[in-house]
Amino acid sequence: MCGIFGYIGKKDPLKVCMQGLKLLEYRGYDSAGIAALQKGELITIKEVGKVSILEEQVNQLDLQLDLAIAHTRWATHGKPCKKNAHPHSDAQSCIALIHNGIIENFASLRSKLEKKGVAFASETDTEVIAQLIADHYKGDLLSSVHTTLSELKGSFAIALIHKNHPDTIVATSRDNPLAIGFSNDLSETIISSDPNAFLGHNLNVFYLKDDEIALVGRDSIEIYDKRKKKIEKKTEKIQAESISFSKEGFEHYLLKEICEQPFTVQKVLVENLAENGTDAHFPQLPFSSRELKKIDRVLIVGCGTSWHAGSIAVSLFEEMAKIPASCEIASEFRYKPPLLSSNTLAIAISQSGETADTLGAVRKIRERGIKVVGICNVKNSSLTREVDGCIYLHAGPEFSVCSTKAFTSQLTLLSLIALFLARSRKMSEEEGEVFVSELKKIPQKIDEVLKRSSEIELLAKKYSHFQNFFFLGRRMMFPICQEAALKLKEISYLNACAYPAGEMKHGPIALISPTLPVIAFCQNEQTYEKMISNIMEVKARGAPILAFASQGAKGLSSIADDLFFLPSCPDLLSPLISTVAGQLFAYFIAKVIGTDIDKPRNLAKSVTVE
Ligand code: F6R
Repeated sequence: MCGIFGYIGKKDPLKVCMQGLKLLEYRGYDSAGIAALQKGELITIKEVGKVSILEEQVNQLDLQLDLAIAHTRWATHGKPCKKNAHPHSDAQSCIALIHNGIIENFASLRSKLEKKGVAFASETDTEVIAQLIADHYKGDLLSSVHTTLSELKGSFAIALIHKNHPDTIVATSRDNPLAIGFSNDLSETIISSDPNAFLGHNLNVFYLKDDEIALVGRDSIEIYDKRKKKIEKKTEKIQAESISFSKEGFEHYLLKEICEQPFTVQKVLVENLAENGTDAHFPQLPFSSRELKKIDRVLIVGCGTSWHAGSIAVSLFEEMAKIPASCEIASEFRYKPPLLSSNTLAIAISQSGETADTLGAVRKIRERGIKVVGICNVKNSSLTREVDGCIYLHAGPEFSVCSTKAFTSQLTLLSLIALFLARSRKMSEEEGEVFVSELKKIPQKIDEVLKRSSEIELLAKKYSHFQNFFFLGRRMMFPICQEAALKLKEISYLNACAYPAGEMKHGPIALISPTLPVIAFCQNEQTYEKMISNIMEVKARGAPILAFASQGAKGLSSIADDLFFLPSCPDLLSPLISTVAGQLFAYFIAKVIGTDIDKPRNLAKSVTVE
């Protein structure tokens, strides 16, 4: 889960690489490093922490690089420290190599090399690749990389340079994205984990397929397939969108992104609502109307927050379109027996479009001949290339590692897909109209919650001294509790657990005590009375209670220690409102604690390893 970047061309490789690394930093920020050839010398500079730390360091040196490769790391093998930072070298310091992914058989490869007397300098799986290539090297770099690939198990993208080949960057990948972009006159070539990092360069782009090897030279690019046969690649022009890195006066990107939600939700409505005001339209869906009618099951896959959005959508598809639906955690689904019927509508949700497990699940579904629809925020990402049809969120970039606006955009989009399917079946025009008019009120209702964020800030301050939190909710509110607990864990590093309220009495109620606050999400009207009973049960055992409920909800004020009223709305849409309160609560607690809110420890924005 790292970012790989490489540059050969007429511009200053140092500058281009530092800009590229900044655009790839969402993939990890445990350490950053650069290796380059400078007048025939191989030099490597690496620093623990964010790219800005590396930048400060390199700016103090007088570097005139001929070509360079650069890396930003999310640690998998070996803790985040200088010796484990990329680029890695072989024992003779001839090679510098950067890597994203995991080499599954690294331990056995390493011990074979150690038995031959090779000394290792790091704990990483990456160093094994550099050492293996060096071990096979007899003057032909392509052959030594090719032989090495046949020994590696796992998924990876790799770029490397060798001091005996001063005009070449070698790139290769397996099950991992690696884009190569070159200018028309080949005066510059860039290698990157993500083509969006080609920003500012007008390039022809292609992607390496499994075990293909690229020899990128000063004025040539040669590609070899897994049998070492020279091949040609088709290219495309990619429009990398220019990104504004401004917090626009907000203290954190996270707060800015939370506050953008009235607009981002509105955008999904504008893009996908049909003009008749009773329906949605999705020309991107890769189905004929006959195929659409035959759909008898919806399967959703995703991870983390995207999985939570999918879990809520299950109720939307079942209640509105009356189609049985399920949502699977992609990393679990990948290793289950694939019991899929041919009339399944498969949906893969991913903000980044780079989550390895979600991509793995997509491949597994498509291998069964079932079409997959992607829901994604990032253009040109791997998901958009692997699915049969893609619907974009258009939420704008999420800089905060913690996902917020993408979640509400996903929920809005999924509501519209459910509406679309429902209307193509039994839902009447009148019912469609009511649902659409309720949806159109959501941006305004989110805005009402945001305008009262100072009240949530006070509540967060009051509860911020607790070390553990219990989130309780029923039906539509249970995934919202999971999402609120995830936000809190992620940015405040506090322990938070979410439970369906009716399940408490089957065990977890043993945890309840005055030191464990219960955050109760009560906006699901259908189960409101039951929720009150569950809150009474935890109150009887001394838990402090903070409840979020719809305006006018009765009976809670005498039970809850603190109560925050939310704008009321139909149950199916209530997650869009409640979740904003959960986001703000987590944000303000993290602010009191003083964590690195936009880049919380141990995390990365894109999870590109299994
Ligand atoms: C939580 C969060 C993660 C992501 C998860 C999936 O705030 O950001 O849980 O939701 O890593 O990421 P995507 O949606 O990019 O596949």
